[in-house]
Amino acid sequence: MRLMTRVIGLTAACWMAALCPTAAWAADAAAGKAVYDAKCKTCHGADGSGNPGIAKAMKVEMKALGSSTADVKKVITEGQGKMKPVASVAGADLDNVVAYVHSLKK
Ligand code: HEC
Repeated sequence: MRLMTRVIGLTAACWMAALCPTAAWAADAAAGKAVYDAKCKTCHGADGSGNPGIAKAMKVEMKALGSSTADVKKVITEGQGKMKPVASVAGADLDNVVAYVHSLKK
């Protein structure tokens, strides 16, 4: 119970002071959209449902990202199946684009 109170207290302090480090580093889905548009949209489509032309050319079925259960970060850094790793997405961009992909979930 005491721990609980401390955790809640800490969280409240973070909100009030806006000094919480996680707030500064929190993934930003809006910023992630820009990364997505630049690095992922050609293949995955604007809404993540997949570009049929690319799917056909790559002879692969592309799952809608909104319903994907894949580890998005891992897919970007290590690739998966026919998708090659997207090495140019790293650091904050990586976290942000992952947040954006998760925001596509319905
Ligand atoms: C050159 C085209 C291309 C680009 C660029 C690309 N992808 Fe992919 N992606 C694919 C293909 C094709 C697959 C399916 C791979 C397979 O299963 O063989 C895939 C699969 C995935 C999956 C797994 C889906 C699932 O449920 O299996 C995720 C998540 C994903 N991509 C995210 C991203 C993100 C985020 C980016 C941008 C950083 C990106 N991709 C850029 C072509 C691309």
